[in-house]
Amino acid sequence: MSVPPILKVDGLYKRFGGLIAINNVSFEIAPGEVKGLIGPNGAGKSTTFDMITGVRPPTSGDIWFKAGRITNQPAHTRSPLGMARTFQIVRLFRGLSVLDNVLMGLQPKFPDGLFASLARLGSLRKQESESRDKAIQLLEFVGLADRAGHPIEALTLGQARLVDIARALASEPQLLMLDEPAAGLNDAETRNLGNMLAILKDRGMTMLLVEHDLDFIMKACDTIVVMDHGVKIADGSPAEVCRNRDVIAAYIGRRAADAEH
Ligand SMILES: Nc1ncnc2c1ncn2[C@@H]1O[C@H](COP(=O)(O)OP(=O)(O)O)[C@@H](O)[C@H]1O
Ligand SMILES: [Mg+2]
Repeated sequence: MSVPPILKVDGLYKRFGGLIAINNVSFEIAPGEVKGLIGPNGAGKSTTFDMITGVRPPTSGDIWFKAGRITNQPAHTRSPLGMARTFQIVRLFRGLSVLDNVLMGLQPKFPDGLFASLARLGSLRKQESESRDKAIQLLEFVGLADRAGHPIEALTLGQARLVDIARALASEPQLLMLDEPAAGLNDAETRNLGNMLAILKDRGMTMLLVEHDLDFIMKACDTIVVMDHGVKIADGSPAEVCRNRDVIAAYIGRRAADAEH
């Protein structure tokens, strides 16, 4: 008997005016699986990610999380269910310390407004023991415990991405979704990030990774969904998608077209 998937995307469509941006896309993520989502520019990766994270609703089709239908559930209600995401353009709180930014991940995503959340941060800070220990442990995990008291603005982009991952992990998600985590990172930071994701994978974390960096995604993922022009053109192991003719055509075709400009 096979294990039920944690996430199931079933026949998703997204229409923007006359454009069908996502055209009947389906895939599943099994518990403990690291799934990549790749494709040339305009393929529909961000739109798919947005629908899974609840940022925008699909035109039709369904999204299931742990056997619950979440298709039209707003983004802020997904964190309590066990879904967490990171942002490509890191959205941490300027003016707060590194530690406080991780503490913010310990609470649901501002259902009653940012002001109430900031007020609760005060009480989280005071609960010295549990929440702070947990936040420090997460900072240790991402190698930034020595920066706990620093203002978030003092970090490099690579460090801020790691704090964003620590913040997302604070909610103890069962599915961690990362939006282009390697974008803008240098080689050393990218390697460090790859090691961190490998440790999370060893601990059984299920992940969805949208990424531009092919080399990075090939190493990080168990399976990869490849999209082109809104359609899923492949779904398999890194080795399988690498030798898929449609995938090669989509990437080489696009590169050749880019070269002409
Ligand atoms: N808000 C929007 N309004 C209209 N068209 C959009 C919008 N967002 C994305 N698109 C279009 O949908 C298609 C898929 O875009 P996107 O999901 O951003 O692709 P990717 O992330 O793979 O580069 C593209 O043709 C893009 O121009
Ligand atoms: Mg995109």
